[in-house]
Amino acid sequence: MARFDGQVALVTGGASGIGKATAVLMAAEGASVVIADVQDDAGAAVAADIEQAGGTAAYVHLDVTDEQGWTDAVASTIERFGGLDILVNNAGIGDTEPLEVTTIDTWNKVVAVTQTSVFLGMKAAGEALKQSGRGSVVNVSSMYGIVGSGVSPAYHAAKGAVRLLTKTTALGWAKEGVRVNSVHPGYIDTPILGDTDREMLIGATPMGRLGRPEEIASTIAFLASDEAGFATGAEFVIDGGYTAG
Ligand SMILES: NC(=O)c1ccc[n+]([C@@H]2O[C@H](COP(=O)([O-])OP(=O)(O)OC[C@H]3O[C@@H](n4cnc5c(N)ncnc54)[C@H](O)[C@@H]3O)[C@@H](O)[C@H]2O)c1
Repeated sequence: MARFDGQVALVTGGASGIGKATAVLMAAEGASVVIADVQDDAGAAVAADIEQAGGTAAYVHLDVTDEQGWTDAVASTIERFGGLDILVNNAGIGDTEPLEVTTIDTWNKVVAVTQTSVFLGMKAAGEALKQSGRGSVVNVSSMYGIVGSGVSPAYHAAKGAVRLLTKTTALGWAKEGVRVNSVHPGYIDTPILGDTDREMLIGATPMGRLGRPEEIASTIAFLASDEAGFATGAEFVIDGGYTAG
């Protein structure tokens, strides 16, 4: 019996990076996985690869800032697979500039995609997760939801908000059978790093390398699984030692 047999997971940002690795891992361990993203071709390709490997997956277009889109994505998940047990709020974008030059448009966009999305997702999925009886939410924050870096004000504010949104929802749902936890990656080798100097990131990381998406996916899967059945409102740092200093 695989860890996620009979369970349904929805993973936002599942077309790339950490979300893709999470979708592939959960499907390999028996989950029916809905990959939700705005990159339609890449998301559909992830679903096709999972099916090719013998798993069960579907792609749904979802802009995580769109409340109606969330309603539709949850409804189509339930229609297709009969319920929803696991929600991974992973989609996110960053900003890179100092506060002085960050525009209100950048602030609003980053907060919408990275923070408000998590509120909308839990709100849309809450009833189905409660009905599951073993519901679990994993919200992907960042080490930058715990410590600052001097730049990227919207990203830090949004990721910090995700950390406490996780804890307060965990308490609100503690007796409803839904666990809610957050993960806090360090520098992970995914497209979100863009043209950031990778040697600089590696130099700042005590373990002397970037993390791999699979190293975050494994912790997300653990938290989503019954193995973490007594964990809720908790934050899990996976950062090669960055925040230990
Ligand atoms: N890579 C890192 O170093 C790192 C570190 C800490 C936290 N994180 C977080 O991990 C999460 C995943 O990022 P990643 O590193 O895999 O990057 P990524 O760019 O590979 O993946 C992000 C995914 O989110 C999707 N997305 C963006 N806007 C969206 C929207 N409006 N609606 C739906 N989907 C949208 C993108 O299309 C993409 O598929 C993000 O929340 C990110 O902030 C990443």
